[in-house]
Amino acid sequence: MDSIDNEKKLAARAAVALIPDGSVVGIGAGSTVNHAVRALGERVAEGLKVKIVPASIETENLARSLGIEITGFEQHPHFDIAIDGADEMDPQLRLLKGGGGALLREKVVATAAKEFIVIADSSKTVEHLGKFPLPVEVLPFALWTVFDRVRKLGVEPILRKKADGSVYETNQHNYILDCPFGKIEDPDKLAADLACIPGLIEHGLFLTEASVALVARGETVETIRRTK
Ligand code: 5RP
Repeated sequence: MDSIDNEKKLAARAAVALIPDGSVVGIGAGSTVNHAVRALGERVAEGLKVKIVPASIETENLARSLGIEITGFEQHPHFDIAIDGADEMDPQLRLLKGGGGALLREKVVATAAKEFIVIADSSKTVEHLGKFPLPVEVLPFALWTVFDRVRKLGVEPILRKKADGSVYETNQHNYILDCPFGKIEDPDKLAADLACIPGLIEHGLFLTEASVALVARGETVETIRRTK
């Protein structure tokens, strides 16, 4: 395991250690989250009672394989905790997410929780969001009009493709435009501009959702709480 993957695992295990018995927990997607799901599987095997609302089919499949009980919004429209990774996190706990293509469901899960815990390795912390291309999820019908409108915001979007060259589809069968904005000077304005484009279903800026971050550096996990 390389040092970044070890940090992901440490942050993930620290978050899972905080889950109280009897909880319902929203769980995001990605390699850091997979460490969390495996750690949760260990706690379940030791007797922890927990149900999860998974944000992706991949997370759900991994959790099922480890004997973790799956639930959904019909039974639990709101819950106490959600745990997810991030592609970037700034000092104000504003996140850029969606590298794994699950941003829409991840935002739904994050906003259904009272406390949203971000788990991250040290490479994810940045002074300014935007070095990582911002993913936006698009209704296939609207792809080229959304493409054009996003372009007018000053970026050349890239339609996400799979390794075989076919267009990448999200769990909802939507498309992703990756938008390499570079340093995002005003994340609130960009989020507002993106949110009013019809057919753009969701963007990967999570500016207010995170309440606490667990960031691993080397062998240490730092807890950072949102202050405002
Ligand atoms: C998926 C995400 C992930 O949280 C993000 O891409 C981080 O992934 P990883 O934990 O694999 O580094 O937003 O849509």
